[in-house]
Amino acid sequence: MTASRLVGNRCGPRYGADVRWSATPGVRVARIAVIGGDGIGPEVCAVALRVLHALEGLEGGAQFVTETFPWGSDHFLRTGAMLPADGLTTLAGFDAILFGAVGSREVPDHVTLWGLRLAIVQSFDLAVSLRPARLLAGVRGPLAGRAPKDIDLVVVRENTEGEYSGAGGFSRRGLDGEMAVQTTIYSRAAIARTARYAFELARARPARRLASITKSNASPHASVLWDEVVAEVGAEYPDVAWVTVLVDAAAARLVLAPQEFDVIVASNLHGDVLSDLTGALAGSLGMAPSANLSLDGARPSMYEPVHGSAFDLVGRGLANPVGMILSVALMLDDLKLPACAGAVRDAVAAACRQGILTRDVGGQATTAEGAAAIVAALSR
Ligand code: NAD
Ligand code: IPM
Ligand code: MN
Repeated sequence: MTASRLVGNRCGPRYGADVRWSATPGVRVARIAVIGGDGIGPEVCAVALRVLHALEGLEGGAQFVTETFPWGSDHFLRTGAMLPADGLTTLAGFDAILFGAVGSREVPDHVTLWGLRLAIVQSFDLAVSLRPARLLAGVRGPLAGRAPKDIDLVVVRENTEGEYSGAGGFSRRGLDGEMAVQTTIYSRAAIARTARYAFELARARPARRLASITKSNASPHASVLWDEVVAEVGAEYPDVAWVTVLVDAAAARLVLAPQEFDVIVASNLHGDVLSDLTGALAGSLGMAPSANLSLDGARPSMYEPVHGSAFDLVGRGLANPVGMILSVALMLDDLKLPACAGAVRDAVAAACRQGILTRDVGGQATTAEGAAAIVAALSR
């Protein structure tokens, strides 16, 4: 196995838990909590575990102790909660979390998502969501004439505030004149830490470019504070060429000229929407990885594909496993196992070059066949 940076998603400053050392000298042990969740989540998590265990022994004999938790909508339907009362405390004891997806046709989305995924993100203060998108050789992207060199960017998404603050409420519920208020909250502290992370990342990448996404023409409070704080932080990075782009214009520009983008820093909802778009630019939402980062390492970071439950694919062997596997690579970066992370990226690149691809990216492979090709490439 060789480790290289050929396959992207390589990011700048890294945070997260240190791997622990086992009683055997030189053997490093990482404890990983695995939550498959709903839909195709368990299918792609099963592949991630295969990949992880294929890596054991590499890099000073890394060992991964994994524990899978059956939390999600089925748990909710059985117990009335998405996870047990001590679930978050249990998770806090792990070095990292691998997460599949949450979302079911039987339980409303705001119940499932706030009951599990957003509960983890908020209570562990997973401040930034890192969402790299790279078109890999062998994958046919949706844009005519675009090559891998044109699509290699990272969305840095503020992950705890904005429309996801949970602030708001109903008024006159159930009556005529019923109203709902969803309040967007932004704090200087959250904008600053996100912007700083993004500028550090931009500084560490060859292109050293950053686009800050805004909507301050229409949002004269939250987006204006966003712009002001990004500018203050940006002034500390004269070596990074940065611009402010309105979110609607950015969506169009990403399609027309994706090569202009390197690091994109965006508020929570803007980053959510744009990262589905950038995933699609890399061929499919199924290719897109993410890392929800505890910037101070106080809690485990959580690694998950950008996609959701994909109701149309469940149980059919059609889920692209790459987004999940590249999320494992992001986790390995943070666990300070760079050879393992590089080996995973190389294996994904090799399978793509060989054309062993799932249907969403123009191939014929099943989830299991795609996974087998990646695991085989890992063992070479
Ligand atoms: P989705 O990401 O589940 O699916 C959108 C489209 O992308 C579908 O056509 C699907 O087939 C395709 N797709 C997704 N993952 C794929 C993969 N691995 N391989 C190939 N194609 C893939 O988004 P949605 O349909 O808007 O949401 C479905 C459910 O998932 C909802 O309940 C939603 O709230 C939830 N969701 C959860 C998360 C999460 O847990 N992180 C993220 C997004 C959506
Ligand atoms: C994502 C998802 C979630 C988000 C939803 C399911 C709450 O779309 O991870 O991008 O918006 O954060
Ligand atoms: Mn999303």
